[in-house]
Amino acid sequence: MNIKAERSWLMLFFPNCTSMKTFSFLVTSAVLMLLLAAGYTSAYKPVILVHGVLSGPSSFKNLTRFIKKAHPGTEVTAIDLFNNEESTEPMWEQIDGFAKVIQEIMDKSPEGVHLLCYSQGGLICRGVLSKLPNHNVQNFIALSSPLAGQFGVTEMLHEIIPVSGRKLVYLLCYRQFAQMHISICNYWNDPLRRVKYLKFNNFLPLLNGEKAHGKMAEWKKNFLRIKKLVLIGGPDDDVITPWQSSQFGFYNNNETIIEMRKQMFYRKNTFGLKTLDTRGDLIMCTRSGVKHTEWHSNKKVFKKCIQKWFD
Ligand SMILES: *[C@@H]1O[C@H](CO)[C@@H](O)[C@H](O)[C@H]1NC(C)=O
Ligand SMILES: *[C@@H]1O[C@H](CO)[C@@H](O)[C@H](O)[C@H]1NC(C)=O
Repeated sequence: MNIKAERSWLMLFFPNCTSMKTFSFLVTSAVLMLLLAAGYTSAYKPVILVHGVLSGPSSFKNLTRFIKKAHPGTEVTAIDLFNNEESTEPMWEQIDGFAKVIQEIMDKSPEGVHLLCYSQGGLICRGVLSKLPNHNVQNFIALSSPLAGQFGVTEMLHEIIPVSGRKLVYLLCYRQFAQMHISICNYWNDPLRRVKYLKFNNFLPLLNGEKAHGKMAEWKKNFLRIKKLVLIGGPDDDVITPWQSSQFGFYNNNETIIEMRKQMFYRKNTFGLKTLDTRGDLIMCTRSGVKHTEWHSNKKVFKKCIQKWFD
């Protein structure tokens, strides 16, 4: 095709394009735009968001906006699964469901993805990261998650656990029926009922390696594929109890808070926490003045604790 023929062919589509100058300008701009678009999509890794209990993907509207504004072109997926009432389904079942969706996104993102999981979602994501052998999650952010368990029935949780007084909840939760039907019972950690917790809780003691099992080494290896673990929480949360659980601290049997590095699962490195810490890949970000339902919508939390890990 000679230039003249190409020009007249082009003029069928762009009748206003009268000179070669305009034509080459159009081509140059199109190429530039393509290059820019390619640059944008490859600059930031995709971000996957997993919601908390009694909630769904719409809770991440503000966070999605923050991410896209700070890092234009980032592909953000708030997973639409086990929403609202369905979020109280047992943890292992939810983990299998979320793992499938996360795997599909990872298959399309060979450069790796980042994962941010809120509240209960943090435990779901730890389960996913432990069970998926070839995941390519780079940075994993647990945003106000009860990582060492929950020992408090706040107003919000009262909808699900109709027991007042946290010292009685074990009567409901540490039974097979509750373990098979109520997600919160899967991470209910009553420090005064340690023997029952280890015997009847079929989720958290396994995930944290507090109860030995055959998959421990494999889960630890899988989990340690992440590059960074970021733990965000704070004293004014009012739902996660104790709030230090968001950074792996918890009560001992006289209800004194024992910090992460003194916990048995850390010392024995049962699931890789100590390895991450020694590697320099464990980051804690503590913010006061943030209520539980505000973590994902608070701009300062995003700027100070989240943004830099979504590279
Ligand atoms: C988004 O932020 C605004 C202002 O802080 C807040 O009122 C709203 O509830 C937030 N949306 C969600 C879904 O959390
Ligand atoms: C509670 O446990 C802490 C840490 O083990 C200990 O220092 C403290 O003395 C204990 N308090 C009581 C009342 O037993």
